[in-house]
Amino acid sequence: MIRLLVVETSPRGNDSVSRSMTKRYLAEWQALNPNGKIVRRDLADEALPHVTMPWLTAYFTPPDAQTAEMKAQLGLSDTLVRELLDCDELVIATPVYNYNIPAALKAWVDHIVRKGLTLGFDGSGLVTAKKATLLIASGGEYGESSPIRDRDIATQYLRMILHVLGIEDIKDVAGGGAKNVDLGEISMEDFVGRLEMQPSEKVLA
Ligand SMILES: Cc1cc2nc3c(=O)[nH]c(=O)nc-3n(C[C@H](O)[C@H](O)[C@H](O)COP(=O)(O)O)c2cc1C
Repeated sequence: MIRLLVVETSPRGNDSVSRSMTKRYLAEWQALNPNGKIVRRDLADEALPHVTMPWLTAYFTPPDAQTAEMKAQLGLSDTLVRELLDCDELVIATPVYNYNIPAALKAWVDHIVRKGLTLGFDGSGLVTAKKATLLIASGGEYGESSPIRDRDIATQYLRMILHVLGIEDIKDVAGGGAKNVDLGEISMEDFVGRLEMQPSEKVLA
């Protein structure tokens, strides 16, 4: 069975453009993959803790030397890593905040980049044979003709970190100009309907 992991970030519920992009993407994906399973990780519903000293101590202790307390420190991170490794396809839906990803999503990244689990000790990515789609809502526009194209750090960062982890097939859907939805200049439905996003049917080998 094909598994898709969707990571949602926006705290804006039904007003969220990125969540509306996810809704469309998932509806199309489910139509193409009727038996596919969707696993959700909602970072607005459950905020992840940031990295702390006890967490780092556990992280840098070899697994066979970890105490029960250290293992407990890494428990949530282990769960998030397992969700990622178990999926065939990853969707990350996120707003752009101050030209970057929101802190809630960065916290997820800090939990899933784990030496020996998702990143090899030689620096090679261990999250292989997966496809990723980035659904990115931003008030501004950062397309090819934009004079502020170089500020599109969120897309560049997500592409880079997923690539480092071993994901090579990465597509991004830029929901630029999302402020026009908030200003009432375009409906959410029209805005999301105009975006190019093509989920694909995954043929499992
Ligand atoms: C705190 C904050 C910071 C933002 N910073 C940016 C930014 O740097 N660049 C941008 O294009 N839009 C920025 N925006 C606009 C959001 O990206 C836009 O409202 C987007 O639709 C939010 O995604 P959501 O609708 O899924 O919540 C910011 C919005 C907020 C609330």
